Amino acid sequence: MRATAAVLLVLCLLAVGHAWDCQPVVDIKNLMQIDAGLGQVVATNTSQIPYYLVGNEWIRLPGSLKHITVGPAGIWGVNKADSIYKYVAGNWVQAAGNLKQLDAGGDQFVVGVNINDTPYCRTRSATVGYKGPDSPFPWTGLPGAVKYNSCGPFGCWHVRSGKEDTCQNNRWSQIDGKLSMIEVATDGSVFGVNSAGQVSTRDGITASKPEGTGWSNVPMCMQMKHVTYDLGRLWVVSKSGFTMVCTH
Ligand SMILES: *[C@@H]1O[C@H](CO)[C@@H](O)[C@H](O)[C@H]1NC(C)=O
Repeated sequence: MRATAAVLLVLCLLAVGHAWDCQPVVDIKNLMQIDAGLGQVVATNTSQIPYYLVGNEWIRLPGSLKHITVGPAGIWGVNKADSIYKYVAGNWVQAAGNLKQLDAGGDQFVVGVNINDTPYCRTRSATVGYKGPDSPFPWTGLPGAVKYNSCGPFGCWHVRSGKEDTCQNNRWSQIDGKLSMIEVATDGSVFGVNSAGQVSTRDGITASKPEGTGWSNVPMCMQMKHVTYDLGRLWVVSKSGFTMVCTH
């Protein structure tokens, strides 16, 4: 069984030789979700076990999380009850509120989505310095907050305009394309996966045109369920549970 899977993976990688060069990530199976930022890589597996990559080794983090994120605001996660946690001195400390998903990739702020698909944001003073229940921890509901479910079951890509370093200047607009998930990298690159498992990247993103100009397909040899990008590496998790890291 293992051998068959390995052979399939090798054949798959040989089949797509152009554009992105992908290598299997060994020593980890059945990832649910992965997030790379600031040179660090974190992930959860389908049993909700959180991991942190050191060398080629996936170190198990304490606790149980369904979603984990790393970025300028630190390492954050949510568990299956939608409780919010920050990684502080080797352990998880809880923060007020409930979110089903969050992202620490902004410039020291955290954006999240609650069970009603309402987006929230937390400014840098409340994220970088957060160290436990005694820290101030105000959530800012985003102005003009959109409900994702107005875009259908696959969700929408949200676009921020104006300054990136506060929660206040955000504007949400609808972009063509139906994606299951999307990641905006620390460098502004945008990658997403659709429900068919195809990976795409947004072209033409600049400060004056943050929504970019269009989508380009990123050829992959398998159907993917999750992507993240940091420092030239595109990390992809296949629907079948393989993880690969690709370079251009
Ligand atoms: C998730 O990780 C834990 C801890 O390493 C492991 O026991 C479990 O089997 C993993 N789940 C899957 C689905 O591989």
